[in-house]
Amino acid sequence: MNREEVTNNIKVPNKDLEILRENFPHCFDKHGNFQLEKFKTILSEKEINFSNESYSLDWLGKSYARLLASEPANTLLKADEKHNAKPENINSENLLIKGDNLEVLKHLSNAYHEKIKMIYIDPPYNTGSDDFVYEDDRKFTLRELQQLIGVDEEKAKRILEFTRSKSNSHSAWLTFMYPRLYLAKRLLREDGAIFISIDDNEVAQLKLLMDEVFGEENFEGHIHWRRRHNQPNDKTKMIGLVAEHIVSYSKNKEIFKKSGTGKIDLTGDFANPDNDDRGDWASKPWKVGSDQSGSRYVIENPKNKKRYDEEWMGEETTYLSLLKDNRIIFPRNGDGLPRKKYFRFEREEEGQCATNWWNHDLFGNNQGANDDMASLFGVKNVFSNPKPVELIRGLLQISNSKNNDIILDFFAGSGTTGHAVMKLNAEDGANRKYIMVQIAEPIDSKKNKTAYDFVADELKAEPTIFEITKERLRRAARKIKEKNSKHDLGFKIFETMPIWEDYEFHAERFENTQTLFDVGKLTIEDTGALITTWKTYDGMPLSKELEALDLDTYTAHYGHNKLYLMNKGFSTVHLKSLLERIDTDKNFNPTSIIAFGHHFESKSLRELTENIKSYANKKNIDIEFTVRY
Ligand SMILES: C[S@@+](CC[C@H](N)C(=O)[O-])C[C@H]1O[C@@H](n2cnc3c(N)ncnc32)[C@H](O)[C@@H]1O
Repeated sequence: MNREEVTNNIKVPNKDLEILRENFPHCFDKHGNFQLEKFKTILSEKEINFSNESYSLDWLGKSYARLLASEPANTLLKADEKHNAKPENINSENLLIKGDNLEVLKHLSNAYHEKIKMIYIDPPYNTGSDDFVYEDDRKFTLRELQQLIGVDEEKAKRILEFTRSKSNSHSAWLTFMYPRLYLAKRLLREDGAIFISIDDNEVAQLKLLMDEVFGEENFEGHIHWRRRHNQPNDKTKMIGLVAEHIVSYSKNKEIFKKSGTGKIDLTGDFANPDNDDRGDWASKPWKVGSDQSGSRYVIENPKNKKRYDEEWMGEETTYLSLLKDNRIIFPRNGDGLPRKKYFRFEREEEGQCATNWWNHDLFGNNQGANDDMASLFGVKNVFSNPKPVELIRGLLQISNSKNNDIILDFFAGSGTTGHAVMKLNAEDGANRKYIMVQIAEPIDSKKNKTAYDFVADELKAEPTIFEITKERLRRAARKIKEKNSKHDLGFKIFETMPIWEDYEFHAERFENTQTLFDVGKLTIEDTGALITTWKTYDGMPLSKELEALDLDTYTAHYGHNKLYLMNKGFSTVHLKSLLERIDTDKNFNPTSIIAFGHHFESKSLRELTENIKSYANKKNIDIEFTVRY
């Protein structure tokens, strides 16, 4: 019988270390410590050069930020059963998760490991006026922190001061972002990409941070998005702000490229002035550019006999066949140098890569996004500065996201990313799915009275931004449905909840001493949260439900070949029913049975283990039995 403590120990598996252990076992000493020097020697033998030049980003709190990434979650995940049971949501694979995204990313780290095709985030920009302050409810003592991150007392003191002081320094912002980006990277598929919106305040820090987390070699580009069309005339500034940044990295540039870079809508000036049967076309010079070389020959304009002796893009034979095929034009009423036509249909087939300049007319602007929200909600200003749907739609296109791909936004805000996913699906028929994460940030009744009143009076809910996200996704879905989309327009809701305070003990100790934890206080919802959290930890997607199995009046839960025995009162009758079910039901093949330790007497656990073991031996099958806390 295995014993596991999972509830208090949901954290991100260190796959890098696993890979090292698997491939370089001789670089670990007998205590499991990694021997860097040995590793370096081996790599040098394999002719890998070590660069002596090094450059990195450092800040107060960096080691603490690493700790935050590896610390276990301190929450559970629970489903909003009522919402999820509604007909439009019951089969939906879209998710909206309420909670701090650091916690949520930890919960997703097994079930969604390398499953996400595209991540878009729009984190707090730390402008000084955007309410970003570093908040942290982890209560490490000075001594604990010193030990955990290996820093001296002075440094540990400074870090603790800063995590408790609601700072908005660059260090605070980096400490906030680092663990989230680190965890996000693990969720991205090898052919996936991430896009991060940011403005001038943190763009420099973000670029260096991303170089560290994703690798400089995976930098894809930096899009300049013009977010307002009018020209600001702020006399206090030398440079007025009209643009912001979207920094993009792929998980692995080579693999991303091979999977096919996404294509953006064509924006060139296509037209069909000569009624060509092949449709709209645009043209490009046939003469080579001043920095290129080509083939030199004389071209004569067949209409006015004008001759041009230049270097051209292709051989003369190629030119003549293009001319015959009506693919050469002489612009300016026949006065200009020859140009080659290219057709819209050809460009659409071969695709057009994006540029790093995104204009407000094609990719939306702040005002347009505000207006769209106002028309969706029927009131103005329920959310400040949503991104335009067109902007995210463009990013979805260039990431080459396709059918069944999962798109993640863990700073969901008003839920624009979910809206853009549904919209693009309705347009191109693909079935992308979204995961949105939004913290239950209270809406300040003074700063945003409209939003506060809207949530309190119209939605009759606790005024938080999460309620705006949820309502936006509902309203956007309704609007898209009006146009007859047959796609998945529902979404399931989950939220984080704190682990019961006294749920802290060690399994070995539990045998002898009684835990202070009062099992009796666990409600049905609490057990439900344990099941949701555990099955996600065991790798099952949140959108997939476990099947409730009736074992002669005892309800067990089954999925992914795992059987969860969570409820009290499991007895010999139920065991009998369980074994009969394995015998008779071909679709029921548990390879692992997991029992919730608190709901079983030690005696019945022993009995259960032995019976299952002897049954498995007799039938020559493998069934692992685990008691979990
Ligand atoms: C700039 S807004 C995103 C706007 C969004 N792109 C849109 O178009 O509406 C950032 C959002 O992240 C949320 N947020 C901030 N910290 C968070 C955290 N730790 N976990 C989850 N959400 C968070 C904020 O409440 C805010 O709604």
